[in-house]
Amino acid sequence: MRRVYLDNNATTPVLPEILDAMRPYFLEHFGNASSIHHHGQETRAAVERACESVAQLVGCRGSEIVFTSGGTEGDNLAISGLARPGDHIITSTIEHHAVLNTCKHLESTGIEVTYVPVDGRGLVDPDDVRRALRPTTRLITIMMANNETGVIQPVEEIGRISAEADVYFHTDAVQAAGKVELDVNRIGCDLLSISGHKMHAPQGVGALYVRKGTLLQPMFHGGRHERSRRAGTENVPGIVALGKAAELAKQGLENGEVTRLAALRDQIEQTVLQQVETIGINGAGAPRVPNTTNIHFDHIEGEALVIALDLKGLAVSTGAACSSGALEPSHVLIAMGLRPDQARASLRFSLGKQNKNDDVEFALGLIPSTVARLRELSPVYQKA
Ligand SMILES: Cc1ncc(COP(=O)(O)O)c(C=O)c1O
Repeated sequence: MRRVYLDNNATTPVLPEILDAMRPYFLEHFGNASSIHHHGQETRAAVERACESVAQLVGCRGSEIVFTSGGTEGDNLAISGLARPGDHIITSTIEHHAVLNTCKHLESTGIEVTYVPVDGRGLVDPDDVRRALRPTTRLITIMMANNETGVIQPVEEIGRISAEADVYFHTDAVQAAGKVELDVNRIGCDLLSISGHKMHAPQGVGALYVRKGTLLQPMFHGGRHERSRRAGTENVPGIVALGKAAELAKQGLENGEVTRLAALRDQIEQTVLQQVETIGINGAGAPRVPNTTNIHFDHIEGEALVIALDLKGLAVSTGAACSSGALEPSHVLIAMGLRPDQARASLRFSLGKQNKNDDVEFALGLIPSTVARLRELSPVYQKA
């Protein structure tokens, strides 16, 4: 059976060039990057090259990159590494749980958190961020691109607000890396997290940009790896893969690859809008990353649609989370003002570099008929 994968915001396949780049670091160049002999020097040099590639992707110096195990660790290190009891943090209601639950945890330790809302397009209003500032505010953490809708936040304006107020600014750029230009100086952030597996490197590796002079309390205690900011023997193959992924991401932004994905995404939206009634694009009207669309198919259970499409070979996802056996509608879509039934009826389609025109045609051959069939079975739809 043919299978098409349009769930690249969940994870991406490792690209062959990236696998080729990392392979020697399992077999031939296996040294510990902290060892002083030949084997260690070889892997140390590879880590440093990868560091430069990641630094070039985000526009910083190599010494400002800390390799992590992924986006979750980067977000935790940025936020927990800065906040102290008595501090105040500003974040938004649509952050990934890596940020939201870190903030929730910190609230239990005497740190205060303001969660700024978003409008119907999924956008934070920078004025809300400004109004939330307090004398005790230590950090603003607002994501660059939302994982469910792809909506891009006004991070440059938020960066200016943080600079004027002299508070730290962290942005979770996990879903932005490789999809839009990243430049930490233009954004004006002090910390920025990325994750390898969202950009065709393997799962379990990521990086945190830490502006020079930003003193982070490390989360792991151990050796003096990563300039004492993250103890633990480096994941050299993963780091090499992330370096290669950063190079390819930069090239993709320059050589039209990203524009190609935007055209495919637009094709999905236009065709579905033409062929399926009572639907809407979540986040339409806001700037969005080119690979993501999130569509609400009213009168349908999104989960049922995901399963029906999966049975026909198409992998997509809902933003719903399963908590205590019940499907909770996506906190992001609810924050944007969708009704719970609309949020539950929403699906995310996210493209990756491996997707071609015929993948989109395959998807478009399935979506309208599958929605129609599920709606036929829905008593709610018949009454509508
Ligand atoms: C916006 C965002 N932040 C953080 C993460 C967590 O990244 P990781 O899976 O590398 O821990 C994800 C993963 O889905 C994400 O989409």
